[in-house]
Amino acid sequence: MSFWHGRRVVVTGHTGFKGSWLSLWLQQLGADVCGVALDPPTDPSMFDEAKVAKGMRSEIADIRDLERVKVVLREHRPEIVFHMAAQSLVRKSYEDPVTTYATNVMGTVNVLESVRECDSVRAVVVITTDKCYENKEWVWPYRETDRLGGYDPYSNSKACAELVVSAYRNSFFSHAQYDRHRLAIATARAGNVIGGGDWAEDRLVPDIMRAFAAKQVLEIRNPNAVRPWQHVLEPLAGYLTLAERLCEAGVQYGDAWNFGPEHADAKSVEWIVRQLAEDWGEDAHWHVDGQTHPHEAQMLKLDWSRAAHALDWHPVLPLKNALRLTAEWYRRRNEGENARDITSEQIERYTQLSKDNQERTACAPTH
Ligand SMILES: NC(=O)c1ccc[n+]([C@@H]2O[C@H](COP(=O)([O-])OP(=O)(O)OC[C@H]3O[C@@H](n4cnc5c(N)ncnc54)[C@H](O)[C@@H]3O)[C@@H](O)[C@H]2O)c1
Repeated sequence: MSFWHGRRVVVTGHTGFKGSWLSLWLQQLGADVCGVALDPPTDPSMFDEAKVAKGMRSEIADIRDLERVKVVLREHRPEIVFHMAAQSLVRKSYEDPVTTYATNVMGTVNVLESVRECDSVRAVVVITTDKCYENKEWVWPYRETDRLGGYDPYSNSKACAELVVSAYRNSFFSHAQYDRHRLAIATARAGNVIGGGDWAEDRLVPDIMRAFAAKQVLEIRNPNAVRPWQHVLEPLAGYLTLAERLCEAGVQYGDAWNFGPEHADAKSVEWIVRQLAEDWGEDAHWHVDGQTHPHEAQMLKLDWSRAAHALDWHPVLPLKNALRLTAEWYRRRNEGENARDITSEQIERYTQLSKDNQERTACAPTH
């Protein structure tokens, strides 16, 4: 992790849920971070509650504005770019497909175009999603080599973003020309993340936390849908490792990577609700909303064998622990504890757990 000390990094989408966690983690590691995003997408937000802007440069700008993005990169001169800014919600993409495509596709073009003009950049990690695959509703986890697709505008726009990255890589940052351009680009496809500080509408865990805290009956839409749930720190650890490898070893890591949970942790929506309700206690009530809703995939799993093999990345938190950590974050915050302190402490605990796991694996007898 000493790799990050003093590194110049740009994070797009730093005012969002994952961007806030990543920006705080990078600050803790001593990186020189600059963020580009619109205002926080929710109120309250992790960005405001944890005072994320305090330890970094924060630019409120629209990634659909190419010239603004170019200026930010030109001024900050990053070595590493994490591109996370997006219209990130499936249901909102049904309501506003145009904004979804403009942000997720042309926004990605604008970030890569700005990178093209900024000769300080060595590594770019573009965050797409597990939903970028053509979903066949089968029980097998998707691999990086599976066909891209996406039924709804959000999922489809992320598959398009994958294609944009591939075209930029082939056309301007090819493996063959690496010695000339010295830049490696990868995409990262993570599962459904959970963690403290998410207040997005129509996302399961924030909906649960809001309803239980207000002693309201939670309505769930899609009880049997299975998703690869994971704590937000798991894919972030993957993105950090990937960026490090892109910087140090270059193009051999420059393609697509899945970061998912242990296979047994791909659980149904109903399982998550029951688990959190049990942890919460008697104020937790829910029922299934029987109305018809826009299509959402029923079965989605991710195969992360490649990240385990080539990046030595493994999930650290079993789902039950990830849920407990999430509920703990909201409970402590609701009791008045400082959100930045809770987040920093959870990052430290996660880092220690990760180290302990690595040491245990290194000491385990080989058969
Ligand atoms: N949360 C999940 O479960 C999950 C799962 C897989 C992938 N992802 C992906 O991870 C990334 C971060 O997700 P999140 O949950 O933090 O999302 P979020 O909605 O909390 O944050 C989105 C961020 O993008 C910014 N943004 C949106 N439109 C913009 C624009 N036009 N210009 C500049 N900034 C803009 C917002 O201001 C915010 O900072 C997204 O790319 C998302 O698709 C999320």
